Amino acid sequence: MFRISNNLIGILNFVTFLLSIPILGGGIWLSTRASTDCEKFLDGPIIALGVFLMVVSLAGLIGACCRVTWLLWVYLVVMFLLILLLFCFTVFAFVVTNKGAGQVVSGKGYKEYRLGDYSNWLQKRVNNTKNWRKIKSCLADTNICKKLGESQDSEAVFYKRNLSPIQSGCCKPPTECSFTYVNATHWTKPDGSTYPSDSDCTAWDNDQKTLCYNCQSCKAGVLANLKRDWKKVAVVNIIILVALVIVYSVGCCAFRNNQEDNAFPKWRRGGGGYS
Ligand SMILES: *[C@@H]1O[C@H](CO)[C@@H](O)[C@H](O)[C@H]1NC(C)=O
Repeated sequence: MFRISNNLIGILNFVTFLLSIPILGGGIWLSTRASTDCEKFLDGPIIALGVFLMVVSLAGLIGACCRVTWLLWVYLVVMFLLILLLFCFTVFAFVVTNKGAGQVVSGKGYKEYRLGDYSNWLQKRVNNTKNWRKIKSCLADTNICKKLGESQDSEAVFYKRNLSPIQSGCCKPPTECSFTYVNATHWTKPDGSTYPSDSDCTAWDNDQKTLCYNCQSCKAGVLANLKRDWKKVAVVNIIILVALVIVYSVGCCAFRNNQEDNAFPKWRRGGGGYS
């Protein structure tokens, strides 16, 4: 009976150990061929995740199967911190993504996004030049605006479209600039400075590599997207959290077994199992 938890922890950690190999491999592969800022930004965390999973699952595997009590102790401490961290992150993310919504524009199927509507903490993150450069690079890699630009919509059809926050904020100029529509990613600026001296109107460029990527509305669109996707991430987080708590509980049983084995080795071995 008492070995079930050890075996379970052993099997679980063997599976996570196997899982860490492709993650680590993928991270290293990405780091060797990363060319854009976006890829360079991702390879570090992926390698870190792979190494972390590998080390922790090895500790759990050896600790549970070979009855190495201190390794199992390290494993449990790390698991506990992970549960705490994930819990805090989930609560924190709920708080920061609570504020902000798109603005409805009359006669348009899409909404406009304003950076000021989002929480100060998120605004600071996207206003950081280094962060924004990486996010911009990831936006360019996804080809979101390129796909939108390829649609041959007439002006009337385009205005009725339900654009995603990123498409609305990053791929077209804000409605208040009153630019003339050519196609989704080409707009003519009115002569003189009839548009508001709002920085987004001046930040717009028909160059397909620039568009509105430097606009405040683009930062707001990214945050709106984050807010929208956050609900899905939260559900995944809660599932992971429950799974971690279960694994942690089983790990505690295995730890107790190890301690009992060490405390009463003769009694345990009395059945003639090992020696
Ligand atoms: C959009 O308009 C620009 C400027 O007229 C043109 O160069 C570009 O090819 C057009 N894009 C599409 C998909 O029609």
